[in-house]
Amino acid sequence: MADQAETLREIMKNKPAESRAKTRIITIASGKGGVGKTNISTNLAIAYARLGKRVILMDADLGLANVNVILGIIPKYNLYHLIRRQKTMSEIIMDTNYGIQIVAGASGFSKIANLTHDERDAFVNDLSELSVADVIIIDTSAGVSDNVLSFVAAADEAIIVTTPEPTAITDAYGIIKIIATEIDNLSLSLKLVVNRVSSVTEGKRVAERVINIAGQFLNLKVDYLGYVYEDPIVHQAVLRQKPFMAVDPRSKASISVQHIVSRLEKIEFQETGGIGNFLKKLLGRSSG
Ligand SMILES: Nc1ncnc2c1ncn2[C@@H]1O[C@H](COP(=O)(O)OP(=O)(O)O)[C@@H](O)[C@H]1O
Ligand SMILES: [Mg+2]
Repeated sequence: MADQAETLREIMKNKPAESRAKTRIITIASGKGGVGKTNISTNLAIAYARLGKRVILMDADLGLANVNVILGIIPKYNLYHLIRRQKTMSEIIMDTNYGIQIVAGASGFSKIANLTHDERDAFVNDLSELSVADVIIIDTSAGVSDNVLSFVAAADEAIIVTTPEPTAITDAYGIIKIIATEIDNLSLSLKLVVNRVSSVTEGKRVAERVINIAGQFLNLKVDYLGYVYEDPIVHQAVLRQKPFMAVDPRSKASISVQHIVSRLEKIEFQETGGIGNFLKKLLGRSSG
């Protein structure tokens, strides 16, 4: 651990101050699969980029990497090659036609906790290169694997996605509970997005349920960040392998996502340690 902290200090020493504290790191997670995480992460990233921010979207869904599928991109290299030291971060990071850059996920990616000392040092070194971004959005797989928890714990903010379905709501509460009991990152801000709503009222009703239970049983504050309308464009866009923000930025789903971004931007952003802090926390958790 001391070695790793040392390595981190080395890395950070070599970075100019402005590139250190400003990166906003948002992890997107859910209890249940198929609730819209990948679509929301991807389109949120694009909406953010349209505000002139430099955005990197990282696919940490290490089982079924699919950000690239939604974007219609076939990445040559991914996190697997990075971890295996076959490629560098600058070699695996990809430009897209949508104003964002992506880091592709990999099914062969080891658990962060299972990486050797050297591999982890190297991984941290690589990730710190992402501090050039204003925003890093991390799409994860459903549920609570060690990797998902590591990313959630290390981020500044975690957005939990649910739909109005009772099973999704129960699982959203489930992951919030695990986050609350497993993670001691006091500065982590938990936010909720309700996807596939038919009305504003429905979104509010679902959010209130989750937020009230979290408050009552876990004494945990969860903020309602917003909703995304049920919109056939999402499915159509997936079939065309184009993000819906690009297919039609005026669609109900696109407008919803843009509202979420503007809410994220209006919320006073508590600047924590940026990527340096992220890496420290990622390591701290994994080494346990
Ligand atoms: N707002 C929405 N309106 C309509 N369909 C949606 C919406 N969000 C998600 N979907 C459907 O759910 C599918 C799964 O979404 P995806 O983003 O891949 O979920 P996850 O990453 O959580 O597994 C999409 O391919 C789409 O068909
Ligand atoms: Mg997904």
